[in-house]
Amino acid sequence: MKNSLKIMAIVLLIAAASACNRDKNHPGYTFFPDMAYSTAYETYTTNPVFADGYTMRLPAEGTIARGTMPYPYKAKSFEDQVKAGVVLKNPLEATPQVLAEGKAQFEIFCVHCHGEKGKGDGHLYTSKLFPAKPTSLVEPYVQNKPDGEIYHVITLGSISGLMGAHGSQVLPENRWKIIHYVRSLSK
Ligand code: HEC
Repeated sequence: MKNSLKIMAIVLLIAAASACNRDKNHPGYTFFPDMAYSTAYETYTTNPVFADGYTMRLPAEGTIARGTMPYPYKAKSFEDQVKAGVVLKNPLEATPQVLAEGKAQFEIFCVHCHGEKGKGDGHLYTSKLFPAKPTSLVEPYVQNKPDGEIYHVITLGSISGLMGAHGSQVLPENRWKIIHYVRSLSK
């Protein structure tokens, strides 16, 4: 009885040790693969159904996704930046909560270049990892701009292109909160 247990243990050990696949480039045998290999086209695969061959589709022309608003000033130009400054108004009040949320967003998206107090001395610049001097946000040059212009810069980046666009990362509402926070830094 004792011996047969020992033999069983040895057999199990050998089975376990040989069960692993050493070839890391081969996934090995898959049991019940029905969930792993979907019959639907995967997002990034080519697709014979559509003329352009893409599975992922663009929204139908003339439609706007729920809860979004297209940004009308598309050019990273002086003209469009000024236009945004004239037309766009900050829809939020600078309440303590808005300022706190603006600070949190600023610390995620801006602080590494513009610095904790917005003086243009963020770590990426002082460590020489980022060569272009970020503008001080507390000087009159920025503080005298209307909110809409700063919104334009956050959305599309600076006209020269030295600061990149943040429109795809920062939600519109959060851009306005950041602007309130940037104003509070100069006080
Ligand atoms: C990767 C570094 C970097 C990040 C991140 C960054 N900026 Fe900038 N920013 C710059 C640089 C560099 C300039 C100077 C650009 C120029 O002179 O064209 C600048 C310029 C600006 C200006 C002045 C634009 C003008 O009209 O001259 C504003 C306003 C500004 N940034 C706000 C922000 C805010 C708000 C954030 C966060 C959402 C942010 N920046 C994130 C690097 C950055």
